[in-house]
Amino acid sequence: MTILVTGGAGFIGGNFVLDWLRDCDEPVLNLDALTYAGNLENLASIKDDPRHCFVRGDICDRALVDSLLATHQPRAIVHFAAESHVDRSIHGPGEFMRTNVTGTFTLLEAARAHWNALEGSAKTGFRFHHVSTDEVYGSLKPNDPPFTETHPYEPNSPYSASKAASDHLVRAWHHTYGLPVTTSNCSNNYGPYHFPEKLIPLMIANALAGKPLPVYGDGMQVRDWLYVGDHCSAIRTILAKGVPGEVYNVGGWNEMPNIEIVNTLCALLDDLAPGVGGKASYRELITYVADRPGHDRRYAIDARKIERELGWRPAETFETGIRKTVEWYLANQSWVGNILSGSYREWLEKNYASR
Ligand code: NAD
Ligand code: TYD
Repeated sequence: MTILVTGGAGFIGGNFVLDWLRDCDEPVLNLDALTYAGNLENLASIKDDPRHCFVRGDICDRALVDSLLATHQPRAIVHFAAESHVDRSIHGPGEFMRTNVTGTFTLLEAARAHWNALEGSAKTGFRFHHVSTDEVYGSLKPNDPPFTETHPYEPNSPYSASKAASDHLVRAWHHTYGLPVTTSNCSNNYGPYHFPEKLIPLMIANALAGKPLPVYGDGMQVRDWLYVGDHCSAIRTILAKGVPGEVYNVGGWNEMPNIEIVNTLCALLDDLAPGVGGKASYRELITYVADRPGHDRRYAIDARKIERELGWRPAETFETGIRKTVEWYLANQSWVGNILSGSYREWLEKNYASR
């Protein structure tokens, strides 16, 4: 038995592979193109592990995907690979359409051909799990109930539109061809190996460098934060117990405005690494900057279905998860340093210089 993971050198995919091999012996075939967001350093601890087979390649390459399925005969595909950053999708949406839409289409077609040729329990047990986001549902008003699985799709950014398109493809491949798919729509993750373009790791890296902490608009946009290890355990649960054709919303029951996240990070850093940024408190670095165009005001997940039907709940509270995360970044500053020395600097210039 083996599973195929796509995007397993990124933030969530990397955590998923590490957690998987920590908890079981089933091998992982890891297909990742190593874009700017893919980083083999995330997988350094399993570099010599014979249960991990890494292949650098593109999910849009049908011939490659076909040959991997034929050679390794995975019992499941867990599909993380994507372009994942809203701000980048605003500056350049093309790559989002290619990887998120065409890439998912290519994988579904390859999976369908592979699954059609299976027989018996190999066929009935096969799963294609699609990892998606709560952003496909659009933006909530302050008193709206959280997103359920039947909330209408109202994506607002090129990123969320491309993920919405991929979700629709996955649904249609089940409805039309019977491919045994499951989908999870998860809220904002945080934790180790989070690329420092995203809010939480960006704020930690900037604070430690004594740089401004750029809060978009009024900082009152609300996200529902989930520790990455909990997202990974939710996916493992869906893979083991989820019903083909079903969608599961995954969230941390932890809605928080961005400015509160930034204040929490400053307080933790004041405690764990006082004075590194050259200020009495890291809060002095908070700087309000021009808002993101089309910025969604609020996301919140109703995660009752996965709890009721599959028995999953997050293990971490925000307090425990965010402390672990800050401690991880403090202990792994060379990981961030290696990213900051590369082409990532051009992105910082593009996104922040004119704000
Ligand atoms: P990430 O950007 O950190 O990693 C994406 C990975 O995919 C990288 O390793 C990259 O090299 C790889 N990749 C990109 N294009 C590829 C291609 N064409 N072929 C093969 N590999 C390719 O993203 P992430 O934050 O780990 O997100 C993983 C998945 O989870 C995405 O599908 C995303 O939409 C979804 N998601 C993310 C969050 C979040 O908070 N980060 C929340 C909910 C859902
Ligand atoms: P982000 O981590 O990019 O995730 P997403 O846009 O997918 O939710 O951003 C989280 C929130 O933080 C979002 O409301 C935008 C905001 N934000 C800032 O205020 N400043 C920043 O520099 C970044 C990167 C994000």
